[in-house]
Amino acid sequence: MDNTYRDRMHIRRSVMDEHREATLQCNDVAEPAVLELYEWMVTTYLPKRFPKVYKLIETPLGLQLHNTVSNTYLPIQPASPLAALECLGEHVDTDFLILLPSSTAADGSPIYHLQAFATMFPAGFSTKDKCGQPLASIHAPVPGYAAKLERSMDRFFARIEVGRVVQRTNWSISTNDRLFSDGGNHMYGDVDQGKPIDTNNKTLAVGNPDLDQKIEQQKRDVVVDDCRLRCERQTLHRLPKTKALVFAFKTYLYRLEEVKEEGLGPVLAEAIEGLGKGSVPDMAFYKRGVVWGEKVIEYLNN
Ligand code: HEM
Repeated sequence: MDNTYRDRMHIRRSVMDEHREATLQCNDVAEPAVLELYEWMVTTYLPKRFPKVYKLIETPLGLQLHNTVSNTYLPIQPASPLAALECLGEHVDTDFLILLPSSTAADGSPIYHLQAFATMFPAGFSTKDKCGQPLASIHAPVPGYAAKLERSMDRFFARIEVGRVVQRTNWSISTNDRLFSDGGNHMYGDVDQGKPIDTNNKTLAVGNPDLDQKIEQQKRDVVVDDCRLRCERQTLHRLPKTKALVFAFKTYLYRLEEVKEEGLGPVLAEAIEGLGKGSVPDMAFYKRGVVWGEKVIEYLNN
């Protein structure tokens, strides 16, 4: 919760109105989990964690959650699972993805699939296209995922206990300030899979016949003032009744000028330079560093 909350609520509402199918979905199998998440959020988490913003109050329509910032009321009993996702999507500045053990590996261990979501701020992918898929397919474009993470990931997921929260953060540079991005923030290689990856027509892939020319063109188009440092704070926890996993992330966008004002320009420049030198050098390509890297590093160092 921060001073961007009011603006974010408006952005979230308008993204939802403009891209309804891309932002909200609940497969039948995930309905009980979505209702469980909603009930916990409105009756417990929100009013206890942010009591000045969300207050449980008796109204002529029964108990409701009052959002004191927008002066609107959230029902305790949503009309449907989709209505519950819509309500969370508008009133909480966090995107939610629900995962369920929908298939089984050869050794009998569960494989988690994405089965419902309220994502207003995807960082360059189509959540709708990923819905129903297992984690491995969802991460197919991520370099190093299949080699370094995939095998341990499902085991790790299966072991997350109720009451435990796992957290991770990520960062990249986007060349625009659009919070809703269903493509264009990444470039895809075929390093791990040995087969082409579906790019939803907005994302450049290694297989593109004009790749070098397209990269040069995109490099010329980069305007440093339009670039943003984009970070996500991601959490993962298990719901006690349905045992579904909730993957939630809050997105932060900073102007590069703000980063410099904090004296962190050289630190970020170093991190960008390090992208291509880490344990997964293809990350620099995936994050489109080959497009925005030069101009952004020069700006941050001067
Ligand atoms: C905590 C375990 C997880 C790890 C270690 C992980 C790792 C990664 C990494 C390294 C990336 C590349 C960009 C970045 O750094 O964020 C990524 C992208 C992504 N992750 Fe995860 N992830 C995790 C959980 C999840 C879960 C639970 C979902 C739920 C569906 C998810 C969905 C995605 C999506 C949609 C992308 C973008 C892929 C694309 O470019 O199409 N991740 N993940």
